[in-house]
Amino acid sequence: MEKLLLRNVDKENSHTIEVYLKGGGYSALRKALKEMSPDDVVEEVKLSGLRGRGGAGFPTGMKWEFAAADLKEPKFFVCNADEGEPCTFKDRVIIEKDPHALIEGMLIGAYATGCRYGYIYLRGEYPIGKKILERAIAEAYEKGFLGENILGTDFSFDLYVHSGAGAYICGEETALIESLEGKRGEPRIKPPFPVNAGYLWKPTVVNNVETLANVPLIIERGGKWYSQIGSPDCPGPKLFPVSGKVKRPGVYELPMGTPLREIIFEHAGGIVKDRKLKAVFPGGASSSLLTADEIDVPMDFPSLAKAGTMLGSGAIMVLDETDCVVKAALRLIEFFRHESCGKCTPCREGTDWLVRIMRRIEEGLGTEEDLDTILSVSETMENSFCGLGMAAHNPVASSVRKFRDEFLEHIKLGRCPFRSG
Ligand code: NAI
Ligand code: SF4
Repeated sequence: MEKLLLRNVDKENSHTIEVYLKGGGYSALRKALKEMSPDDVVEEVKLSGLRGRGGAGFPTGMKWEFAAADLKEPKFFVCNADEGEPCTFKDRVIIEKDPHALIEGMLIGAYATGCRYGYIYLRGEYPIGKKILERAIAEAYEKGFLGENILGTDFSFDLYVHSGAGAYICGEETALIESLEGKRGEPRIKPPFPVNAGYLWKPTVVNNVETLANVPLIIERGGKWYSQIGSPDCPGPKLFPVSGKVKRPGVYELPMGTPLREIIFEHAGGIVKDRKLKAVFPGGASSSLLTADEIDVPMDFPSLAKAGTMLGSGAIMVLDETDCVVKAALRLIEFFRHESCGKCTPCREGTDWLVRIMRRIEEGLGTEEDLDTILSVSETMENSFCGLGMAAHNPVASSVRKFRDEFLEHIKLGRCPFRSG
């Protein structure tokens, strides 16, 4: 497949505006501003079928339509660059290697929705990305793509980078907005959604980095062209970060709907030392795992939901036959316990319970009853206030359901069977 999202990343100095312009950069912005009305842009994005790449897959055109229809002022356009999910490192490639694609996508989105100010909320642990983005923004101001009366039109847009301080919860859009306002990053109740009441309670569009990098392509080549790539229900190119026990870990751009088996065994080279595949987390650290028999699934939102898991950020984490599922699930729930903001009881207490029970089992001190308690706590966590708590138990609960024998072996042996001695 022709590289679309990663078309620029292998070029020398791909992060500079000279290289971006040489490759046709900012021509989509020019086309939008000079040849299209804001409504035309929204319609084109709707026609493309683009769905959000942050994890939830909400239709981007619809989000923009809602924001455009809200006439409160000023409006804000925020890029969620707080990529904090373990094993998710796809947005980083765009931020560091093609920052102008992101800026151009934001400008087109801001024009379509009537936003005057923009923020890139950047993960605190991406200091190199911060320097690159700030330099790219300065370059865009110099060339007249940012600021007052862009390209001689009456569209004006100012853009700033805001660094997070290391809290995973600030990737949740309402916690992100609270943090941007200078408060402690805790989620707000939804609705109202940010498109109507976001930053400073004004209409605010929040889009993920990868989502925005798709936008110049859609405007340049048309929504119809875009809608024919990959899965009909959720089209377009998709970045899949692959990690764990594969021969060639990395970020792969493939059409949405590429089978998981093909990604692991063809693109990522198969399992290290030609061992057997044991299990895969197909959609980030909060997805339910799939066994080796379940990987003939197209990697798109509806197919993975049908398979009982989720596409999420599209991050694929692979375990082989030498890996302990109990230990892997324990590591993930330890992460979520640490990152739970503590605002609501099911998540704050649930993640802590799961860590304590899982540690006990991993150390060989668990009981069979513990497995029922894990599933019961997980069910309660479904009632958490935000997505973090609602999904945090997935890796643990799915491990118990699909690898019960491995848990029982820990309990029977009184130790981890993957550890010698
Ligand atoms: P959500 O379904 O609540 O919202 C998705 C988006 O659609 C939001 O921007 C929301 O404002 C908008 N939206 C939904 N219904 C709307 C309506 N009726 N009107 C206007 N706007 C509406 O999901 P959420 O909690 O924002 O995201 C959850 C996902 O985030 C999970 O699937 C997970 O995979 C992903 N995630 C990604 C991470 C990463 O590092 N990329 C980290 C953690 C989670
Ligand atoms: Fe905070 Fe977790 Fe509740 Fe979300 S689910 S509000 S992260 S405690």
